[in-house]
Amino acid sequence: MTEKPKLRVGLVGAGFMGRCHANAFRSVSGLFDLPLDPVAEMLADVTDDVAVHNAAALGFNRSTGDWRNLCADPTIDLVAVTAPNALHEPIVMAALKAGKHVYCEKPLSTTLESAQRMTAAAQAAGIVTMVGFNFLRNPMIRLARELVEAGEIGEVVSFRGRHAENYMADPDVPHSFRTDPDGGGALADIGSHIISMARYLLGPISHVTGQSRTIHKTRPISAGTTERAPVLVDDATFALIEFETGAVGTIEANWAASGRTMDLSWEITGTRGALVFSQERMNELLICKGPGGGHTSGFTKIEAGPSHPPYANFCPAAGHHLGFNDLKVIEVAQLIDAIAGKQNPGPDFQEALEVQKIVSRIALDCQSPKTRAL
Ligand SMILES: NC(=O)c1ccc[n+]([C@@H]2O[C@H](COP(=O)([O-])OP(=O)(O)OC[C@H]3O[C@@H](n4cnc5c(N)ncnc54)[C@H](O)[C@@H]3O)[C@@H](O)[C@H]2O)c1
Repeated sequence: MTEKPKLRVGLVGAGFMGRCHANAFRSVSGLFDLPLDPVAEMLADVTDDVAVHNAAALGFNRSTGDWRNLCADPTIDLVAVTAPNALHEPIVMAALKAGKHVYCEKPLSTTLESAQRMTAAAQAAGIVTMVGFNFLRNPMIRLARELVEAGEIGEVVSFRGRHAENYMADPDVPHSFRTDPDGGGALADIGSHIISMARYLLGPISHVTGQSRTIHKTRPISAGTTERAPVLVDDATFALIEFETGAVGTIEANWAASGRTMDLSWEITGTRGALVFSQERMNELLICKGPGGGHTSGFTKIEAGPSHPPYANFCPAAGHHLGFNDLKVIEVAQLIDAIAGKQNPGPDFQEALEVQKIVSRIALDCQSPKTRAL
């Protein structure tokens, strides 16, 4: 058997998402028939010691305490960026300068200007980019888009979307990169997911208005201290949106939503039916055809199974369920295909820039005085 060409991966950051990327690169070749064989070549983290430790734990050949070394290393083909948001731009720019393909976690960046710079640089470099909006890889989301496009629920009238989690609901959760004004806030952090989802399902968004709230005004400056510092970003943002099609809707980004662990959820209502999804039950899509009245009123549950690609790559039987990490494996498979020359399904930097435009426009509207008082 001839050996496949290698794709040497450099990973920056080995936290929650770094481990998820490493798992995906390790397992993808056993699940998908790919033209390139990914190799876990180099890992960068905050210091040499941390990088050595994490490289050994995640199966990387080499390590460095400085991401600049990784980006400049001539053996690296692809740089995967899972460092805190405010570091995305300098790392990505260094990788692009060295001509590497780039796989960057969401949000691409946290300002419009930064996302524009990164997208322009990527276009000039002519390499493949992908941004980690992994929830779009779910076979149930793909099915939902196909059902909408096929007119199964008629003309879409409205979208009610929400990304709500509880990881900042406790006022004693300390500051982190997520509350860094240069890299954080609920709208940028998780609002970007539901916005990318809305665009994937229903197309471009043309108008937005918003309101945001900082629910917990101070937080401990770090874990284990009682000293507190003000919170300068939003905990929750609510927006009214309109799509280019004329459909209207709402978007909520909320990381202080008690009881909600992963409610990346939406409801699409059409003139002849409706669809409902929540990531908390990611192997199910609910559909209602027609008004849904009578003695069988309500929604019918569609269960994920081998007839929903690429579920069958993981399992031959319905009801066994894909998980969060599987979405990353699917994303990495699509990325590797794109690097080998197949069409890039995205979201690439250009699409992430479109998401950032919406995030930035909502944020700007949240700052403007409201004149709708009764
Ligand atoms: N796609 C998703 O579903 C999803 C989920 C969570 C987080 N994210 C994104 O992934 C990124 C990382 O989030 P996380 O939850 O993994 O954070 P994390 O805090 O768990 O991990 C961050 C990692 O980056 C490392 N790091 C920090 N500064 C660094 C530096 N200067 N050089 C090299 N490494 C450095 C840290 O040591 C750590 O290993 C963020 O951009 C976040 O928005 C995406």
